[in-house]
Amino acid sequence: METADRILSLLRREPVVSGEALSATLGVSRAAVWKHVEALRAAGYVIEARRARGYALTGSPNRLLPAEIARHLTTERFGRRLECFETIDSTNVQAARLARDDAPEGTLVLAERQTHGRGRLGRTWVSPARVNLYASFVLRPRLSPADAPQLALAAAVAVARALAPLAPGRVAIKWPNDCLLDGRKVAGILTEMDAEVDRIRAVVLGIGVNLNAPARAFPVDLRPTTTSVLLATGTPVDRPRFAAGLCATLEAVYDRVVRDGFAVVAPEWETYSCLTGRRVTIDCSGRRSEGTVRGIDPTGRLVLDGTAGEERIMAGDVSIVNGYQGLGTQAKGSGT
Ligand code: BTN
Repeated sequence: METADRILSLLRREPVVSGEALSATLGVSRAAVWKHVEALRAAGYVIEARRARGYALTGSPNRLLPAEIARHLTTERFGRRLECFETIDSTNVQAARLARDDAPEGTLVLAERQTHGRGRLGRTWVSPARVNLYASFVLRPRLSPADAPQLALAAAVAVARALAPLAPGRVAIKWPNDCLLDGRKVAGILTEMDAEVDRIRAVVLGIGVNLNAPARAFPVDLRPTTTSVLLATGTPVDRPRFAAGLCATLEAVYDRVVRDGFAVVAPEWETYSCLTGRRVTIDCSGRRSEGTVRGIDPTGRLVLDGTAGEERIMAGDVSIVNGYQGLGTQAKGSGT
Protein backbone atom coordinates (compact mmCIF):
# COMPACT_ATOMS: atom_id res chain seq x y z
CA MET A 1 0.00 0.00 0.00
CA GLU A 2 1.30 3.47 -0.81
CA THR A 3 2.06 5.95 1.99
CA ALA A 4 -0.90 8.19 1.12
CA ASP A 5 -3.27 5.19 1.25
CA ARG A 6 -1.80 4.16 4.60
CA ILE A 7 -2.33 7.69 5.95
CA LEU A 8 -5.96 7.49 4.85
CA SER A 9 -6.52 4.15 6.50
CA LEU A 10 -4.96 5.40 9.77
CA LEU A 11 -7.11 8.56 9.67
CA ARG A 12 -10.21 6.41 9.14
CA ARG A 13 -9.54 4.44 12.31
CA GLU A 14 -9.35 7.41 14.75
CA PRO A 15 -11.14 10.77 14.84
CA VAL A 16 -7.78 12.61 15.15
CA VAL A 17 -4.23 11.32 14.61
CA SER A 18 -1.14 13.38 15.43
CA GLY A 19 1.49 14.07 12.79
CA GLU A 20 3.99 12.50 15.16
CA ALA A 21 2.01 9.24 15.39
CA LEU A 22 1.62 9.12 11.60
CA SER A 23 5.32 9.65 11.02
CA ALA A 24 6.28 7.03 13.64
CA THR A 25 3.80 4.40 12.32
CA LEU A 26 4.76 4.93 8.70
CA GLY A 27 8.47 5.40 9.29
CA VAL A 28 8.62 8.68 7.36
CA SER A 29 9.46 12.26 8.42
CA ARG A 30 6.83 14.76 9.64
CA ALA A 31 7.58 16.80 6.51
CA ALA A 32 6.80 13.77 4.33
CA VAL A 33 3.52 13.24 6.20
CA TRP A 34 2.60 16.87 5.56
CA LYS A 35 3.46 16.51 1.85
CA HIS A 36 1.19 13.45 1.51
CA VAL A 37 -1.62 15.18 3.40
CA GLU A 38 -1.37 18.11 0.99
CA ALA A 39 -1.51 15.73 -1.99
CA LEU A 40 -4.59 14.02 -0.52
CA ARG A 41 -6.25 17.40 -0.05
CA ALA A 42 -5.49 18.23 -3.67
CA ALA A 43 -7.22 14.96 -4.65
CA GLY A 44 -10.36 16.09 -2.82
CA TYR A 45 -10.00 14.66 0.69
CA VAL A 46 -10.96 17.05 3.47
CA ILE A 47 -8.27 16.72 6.12
CA GLU A 48 -8.44 19.24 8.93
CA ALA A 49 -5.37 20.15 10.95
CA ARG A 50 -6.51 20.37 14.59
CA ARG A 51 -4.14 22.52 16.61
CA ALA A 52 -1.95 20.55 19.01
CA ARG A 53 -3.92 17.35 18.30
CA GLY A 54 -3.26 16.33 14.72
CA TYR A 55 -5.13 15.50 11.51
CA ALA A 56 -8.82 14.61 11.14
CA LEU A 57 -10.36 13.17 7.96
CA THR A 58 -13.76 14.79 7.59
CA GLY A 59 -14.61 14.20 3.93
CA SER A 60 -13.76 11.95 0.97
CA PRO A 61 -14.02 12.90 -2.70
CA ASN A 62 -16.90 11.46 -4.69
CA ARG A 63 -14.35 10.27 -7.22
CA LEU A 64 -13.55 6.93 -8.81
CA LEU A 65 -10.19 6.56 -7.08
CA PRO A 66 -8.83 3.04 -6.53
CA ALA A 67 -8.50 3.54 -2.76
CA GLU A 68 -12.10 4.77 -2.45
CA ILE A 69 -13.46 1.82 -4.40
CA ALA A 70 -11.23 -0.72 -2.64
CA ARG A 71 -12.60 0.13 0.79
CA HIS A 72 -16.13 -0.83 -0.28
CA LEU A 73 -15.16 -3.88 -2.35
CA THR A 74 -16.49 -7.24 -1.13
CA THR A 75 -15.88 -9.34 -4.25
CA GLU A 76 -13.49 -12.16 -4.92
CA ARG A 77 -12.52 -11.25 -8.52
CA PHE A 78 -14.62 -8.41 -9.93
CA GLY A 79 -12.83 -5.06 -9.51
CA ARG A 80 -9.84 -6.62 -7.75
CA ARG A 81 -7.67 -5.62 -10.68
CA LEU A 82 -8.64 -2.06 -11.39
CA GLU A 83 -7.51 0.68 -13.76
CA CYS A 84 -8.98 4.16 -13.25
CA PHE A 85 -8.57 6.93 -15.82
CA GLU A 86 -9.42 10.62 -15.66
CA THR A 87 -10.07 10.62 -19.44
CA ILE A 88 -10.08 7.76 -21.91
CA ASP A 89 -11.44 7.15 -25.40
CA SER A 90 -13.71 4.30 -24.28
CA THR A 91 -13.38 1.99 -21.27
CA ASN A 92 -14.51 -0.87 -23.56
CA VAL A 93 -11.59 -0.22 -25.90
CA GLN A 94 -9.13 -0.16 -22.98
CA ALA A 95 -10.63 -3.34 -21.47
CA ALA A 96 -10.30 -5.08 -24.85
CA ARG A 97 -6.61 -4.07 -24.92
CA LEU A 98 -6.14 -5.56 -21.44
CA ALA A 99 -8.05 -8.70 -22.43
CA ARG A 100 -5.65 -9.23 -25.34
CA ASP A 101 -2.80 -8.90 -22.82
CA ASP A 102 -4.26 -11.77 -20.75
CA ALA A 103 -5.92 -9.67 -18.04
CA PRO A 104 -7.74 -11.95 -15.62
CA GLU A 105 -11.50 -12.28 -15.35
CA GLY A 106 -13.07 -9.46 -13.36
CA THR A 107 -10.49 -6.86 -14.41
CA LEU A 108 -12.26 -3.51 -14.32
CA VAL A 109 -11.56 -0.32 -16.26
CA LEU A 110 -13.19 2.88 -15.02
CA ALA A 111 -13.00 6.42 -16.31
CA GLU A 112 -14.23 9.77 -15.10
CA ARG A 113 -14.87 10.81 -18.69
CA GLN A 114 -14.94 9.15 -22.15
CA THR A 115 -14.16 11.01 -25.34
CA HIS A 116 -15.59 8.24 -27.56
CA GLY A 117 -18.11 6.46 -25.33
CA ARG A 118 -19.75 3.69 -27.38
CA GLY A 119 -23.39 2.69 -27.25
CA ARG A 120 -25.30 -0.19 -28.83
CA LEU A 121 -26.05 -0.18 -32.56
CA GLY A 122 -23.21 2.24 -33.32
CA ARG A 123 -24.62 5.00 -31.14
CA THR A 124 -22.60 7.35 -28.96
CA TRP A 125 -22.73 7.13 -25.17
CA VAL A 126 -22.73 10.65 -23.75
CA SER A 127 -20.04 10.63 -21.06
CA PRO A 128 -19.78 13.87 -19.06
CA ALA A 129 -16.88 14.15 -16.59
CA ARG A 130 -16.87 13.15 -12.93
CA VAL A 131 -20.59 12.58 -12.52
CA ASN A 132 -21.46 9.11 -13.83
CA LEU A 133 -20.08 5.60 -14.02
CA TYR A 134 -18.30 4.29 -17.13
CA ALA A 135 -17.15 0.76 -16.40
CA SER A 136 -15.86 -2.16 -18.48
CA PHE A 137 -15.17 -5.64 -17.16
CA VAL A 138 -13.05 -8.34 -18.76
CA LEU A 139 -14.93 -11.65 -18.65
CA ARG A 140 -13.74 -15.10 -19.65
CA PRO A 141 -16.91 -17.18 -19.52
CA ARG A 142 -16.85 -20.87 -20.34
CA LEU A 143 -19.90 -20.49 -22.57
CA SER A 144 -20.45 -21.09 -26.23
CA PRO A 145 -20.30 -17.84 -28.29
CA ALA A 146 -23.99 -18.34 -29.13
CA ASP A 147 -24.87 -17.94 -25.43
CA ALA A 148 -22.91 -14.69 -24.99
CA PRO A 149 -26.01 -12.43 -25.35
CA GLN A 150 -27.24 -13.95 -22.08
CA LEU A 151 -24.40 -12.15 -20.31
CA ALA A 152 -25.78 -8.73 -21.24
CA LEU A 153 -29.24 -9.75 -20.00
CA ALA A 154 -27.70 -11.00 -16.76
CA ALA A 155 -25.72 -7.77 -16.43
CA ALA A 156 -28.97 -5.80 -16.67
CA VAL A 157 -30.22 -7.70 -13.62
CA ALA A 158 -27.00 -6.84 -11.77
CA VAL A 159 -27.34 -3.15 -12.67
CA ALA A 160 -31.02 -3.12 -11.67
CA ARG A 161 -30.13 -4.79 -8.36
CA ALA A 162 -27.46 -2.16 -7.70
CA LEU A 163 -29.82 0.71 -8.58
CA ALA A 164 -32.96 -0.57 -6.84
CA PRO A 165 -32.02 0.52 -3.28
CA LEU A 166 -31.44 4.08 -4.56
CA ALA A 167 -34.95 4.33 -6.00
CA PRO A 168 -37.06 1.46 -4.65
CA GLY A 169 -39.79 0.25 -7.02
CA ARG A 170 -38.81 2.69 -9.77
CA VAL A 171 -36.14 0.71 -11.67
CA ALA A 172 -37.05 -1.34 -14.74
CA ILE A 173 -35.35 -3.29 -17.51
CA LYS A 174 -36.35 -2.75 -21.10
CA TRP A 175 -35.35 -5.75 -23.19
CA PRO A 176 -32.71 -6.58 -23.97
CA ASN A 177 -30.65 -4.65 -21.43
CA ASP A 178 -31.55 -1.00 -20.95
CA CYS A 179 -32.16 0.06 -17.37
CA LEU A 180 -34.85 2.67 -16.82
CA LEU A 181 -35.63 4.86 -13.85
CA ASP A 182 -39.17 6.24 -13.82
CA GLY A 183 -39.34 5.06 -17.44
CA ARG A 184 -36.29 7.02 -18.62
CA LYS A 185 -33.00 5.49 -19.59
CA VAL A 186 -30.52 5.55 -16.71
CA ALA A 187 -28.07 2.81 -17.74
CA GLY A 188 -26.95 0.94 -20.82
CA ILE A 189 -24.89 -2.16 -21.48
CA LEU A 190 -22.62 -2.95 -24.40
CA THR A 191 -20.95 -6.36 -24.68
CA GLU A 192 -18.18 -6.99 -27.18
CA MET A 193 -16.75 -10.42 -27.78
CA ASP A 194 -13.46 -11.88 -28.95
CA ALA A 195 -14.21 -15.48 -29.94
CA GLU A 196 -13.35 -18.43 -32.12
CA VAL A 197 -16.20 -20.38 -33.72
CA ASP A 198 -16.76 -22.52 -30.64
CA ARG A 199 -14.84 -20.76 -27.86
CA ILE A 200 -15.00 -17.33 -26.23
CA ARG A 201 -11.57 -15.82 -25.65
CA ALA A 202 -12.95 -12.78 -23.81
CA VAL A 203 -16.05 -10.69 -23.46
CA VAL A 204 -15.84 -7.02 -22.59
CA LEU A 205 -18.90 -5.99 -20.64
CA GLY A 206 -19.35 -2.22 -20.75
CA ILE A 207 -21.78 -0.53 -18.40
CA GLY A 208 -22.70 3.14 -18.36
CA VAL A 209 -24.83 4.42 -15.48
CA ASN A 210 -26.04 8.01 -15.22
CA LEU A 211 -25.54 8.71 -11.53
CA ASN A 212 -25.10 12.41 -10.72
CA ALA A 213 -25.37 14.04 -14.15
CA PRO A 214 -27.44 17.23 -14.29
CA ALA A 215 -29.90 17.62 -17.18
CA ARG A 216 -27.58 20.07 -18.95
CA ALA A 217 -24.98 17.29 -19.28
CA PHE A 218 -27.20 15.61 -21.89
CA PRO A 219 -27.90 16.95 -25.39
CA VAL A 220 -31.30 18.64 -25.62
CA ASP A 221 -32.80 15.91 -27.83
CA LEU A 222 -31.99 13.21 -25.24
CA ARG A 223 -33.32 15.05 -22.19
CA PRO A 224 -36.94 13.86 -22.44
CA THR A 225 -35.84 10.22 -22.58
CA THR A 226 -32.82 10.17 -20.30
CA THR A 227 -32.29 10.58 -16.59
CA SER A 228 -29.73 10.18 -13.83
CA VAL A 229 -30.24 8.94 -10.29
CA LEU A 230 -29.65 12.47 -8.99
CA LEU A 231 -32.16 13.95 -11.43
CA ALA A 232 -34.81 11.36 -10.54
CA THR A 233 -34.33 11.19 -6.78
CA GLY A 234 -32.68 14.48 -5.79
CA THR A 235 -30.01 12.55 -3.86
CA PRO A 236 -26.40 12.40 -5.08
CA VAL A 237 -24.89 8.94 -5.37
CA ASP A 238 -21.64 7.96 -3.64
CA ARG A 239 -19.96 6.83 -6.86
CA PRO A 240 -17.10 4.70 -5.46
CA ARG A 241 -19.55 2.89 -3.21
CA PHE A 242 -21.90 2.34 -6.16
CA ALA A 243 -19.01 1.03 -8.31
CA ALA A 244 -18.04 -1.48 -5.59
CA GLY A 245 -21.68 -2.48 -5.11
CA LEU A 246 -22.05 -3.09 -8.85
CA CYS A 247 -18.94 -5.32 -8.79
CA ALA A 248 -20.68 -7.38 -6.08
CA THR A 249 -24.07 -7.72 -7.79
CA LEU A 250 -22.36 -8.49 -11.09
CA GLU A 251 -20.03 -11.14 -9.69
CA ALA A 252 -22.97 -12.87 -7.99
CA VAL A 253 -25.26 -12.84 -11.05
CA TYR A 254 -22.48 -13.68 -13.52
CA ASP A 255 -21.21 -16.66 -11.55
CA ARG A 256 -24.73 -18.12 -11.34
CA VAL A 257 -25.42 -17.64 -15.03
CA VAL A 258 -22.11 -19.17 -16.13
CA ARG A 259 -22.65 -22.13 -13.81
CA ASP A 260 -26.39 -22.77 -14.26
CA GLY A 261 -27.50 -20.83 -17.34
CA PHE A 262 -29.59 -17.68 -17.80
CA ALA A 263 -32.73 -19.60 -16.73
CA VAL A 264 -31.77 -19.13 -13.05
CA VAL A 265 -31.95 -15.33 -13.24
CA ALA A 266 -34.77 -15.13 -15.82
CA PRO A 267 -37.45 -14.85 -13.07
CA GLU A 268 -35.64 -11.88 -11.51
CA TRP A 269 -35.18 -10.33 -14.96
CA GLU A 270 -38.98 -10.67 -15.42
CA THR A 271 -39.70 -8.85 -12.15
CA TYR A 272 -37.92 -5.80 -13.58
CA SER A 273 -39.24 -6.07 -17.14
CA CYS A 274 -41.40 -3.16 -18.29
CA LEU A 275 -42.45 -4.78 -21.59
CA THR A 276 -44.39 -7.85 -20.49
CA GLY A 277 -48.00 -7.56 -21.71
CA ARG A 278 -47.20 -4.62 -23.97
CA ARG A 279 -47.64 -4.40 -27.71
CA VAL A 280 -44.30 -3.73 -29.37
CA THR A 281 -42.52 -3.65 -32.68
CA ILE A 282 -39.02 -5.03 -32.84
CA ASP A 283 -36.50 -4.09 -35.46
CA CYS A 284 -34.13 -7.00 -35.82
CA SER A 285 -31.43 -6.14 -38.40
CA GLY A 286 -34.03 -4.68 -40.77
CA ARG A 287 -36.65 -7.39 -40.12
CA ARG A 288 -39.71 -6.09 -38.27
CA SER A 289 -41.82 -8.11 -35.85
CA GLU A 290 -44.94 -6.91 -34.10
CA GLY A 291 -46.85 -8.48 -31.23
CA THR A 292 -47.54 -8.62 -27.51
CA VAL A 293 -44.66 -9.45 -25.21
CA ARG A 294 -45.27 -12.63 -23.21
CA GLY A 295 -41.95 -12.62 -21.36
CA ILE A 296 -38.46 -14.00 -21.67
CA ASP A 297 -37.55 -17.66 -22.24
CA PRO A 298 -34.86 -19.58 -20.31
CA THR A 299 -32.26 -18.77 -22.97
CA GLY A 300 -32.96 -15.02 -22.91
CA ARG A 301 -35.09 -14.73 -26.03
CA LEU A 302 -38.06 -12.36 -25.92
CA VAL A 303 -41.30 -14.29 -26.41
CA LEU A 304 -43.73 -12.43 -28.63
CA ASP A 305 -47.32 -13.28 -29.53
CA GLY A 306 -47.01 -12.10 -33.11
CA THR A 307 -49.48 -11.84 -35.97
CA ALA A 308 -48.16 -15.12 -37.38
CA GLY A 309 -48.00 -16.93 -34.03
CA GLU A 310 -45.33 -17.10 -31.36
CA GLU A 311 -41.91 -15.67 -32.09
CA ARG A 312 -38.74 -15.85 -30.02
CA ILE A 313 -36.27 -13.03 -30.60
CA MET A 314 -32.66 -12.88 -29.47
CA ALA A 315 -31.73 -9.28 -30.30
CA GLY A 316 -33.28 -6.11 -31.65
CA ASP A 317 -34.46 -2.59 -31.04
CA VAL A 318 -37.87 -2.32 -29.38
CA SER A 319 -40.53 0.37 -29.73
CA ILE A 320 -43.80 0.29 -27.85
CA VAL A 321 -46.89 0.53 -30.07
CA ASN A 322 -49.38 3.34 -29.32
CA GLY A 323 -46.90 5.58 -27.55
CA TYR A 324 -45.19 5.01 -24.30
CA GLN A 325 -47.88 5.48 -21.67
CA GLY A 326 -46.63 4.40 -18.31
CA LEU A 327 -43.02 4.62 -19.41
CA GLY A 328 -43.08 8.16 -20.76
CA THR A 329 -41.73 8.61 -24.27
CA GLN A 330 -38.42 7.42 -22.95
CA ALA A 331 -38.69 3.71 -23.64
CA LYS A 332 -37.46 3.94 -27.22
CA GLY A 333 -33.75 3.17 -27.16
CA SER A 334 -32.12 6.51 -26.54
CA GLY A 335 -28.66 7.23 -27.84
CA THR A 336 -27.19 7.71 -24.40
C1 BTN B 1 -26.26 1.38 -24.84
O1 BTN B 1 -26.26 1.88 -25.96
O2 BTN B 1 -27.31 1.34 -24.17
C2 BTN B 1 -24.99 0.82 -24.25
C3 BTN B 1 -24.15 1.89 -23.62
C4 BTN B 1 -22.88 1.36 -22.97
C5 BTN B 1 -22.03 2.48 -22.45
C6 BTN B 1 -20.86 2.01 -21.67
S1 BTN B 1 -20.05 3.29 -20.78
C7 BTN B 1 -18.75 2.22 -20.39
C8 BTN B 1 -18.46 1.38 -21.62
N1 BTN B 1 -17.56 2.08 -22.51
C9 BTN B 1 -18.14 2.40 -23.66
O3 BTN B 1 -17.58 3.02 -24.60
N2 BTN B 1 -19.42 1.99 -23.68
C10 BTN B 1 -19.76 1.30 -22.45
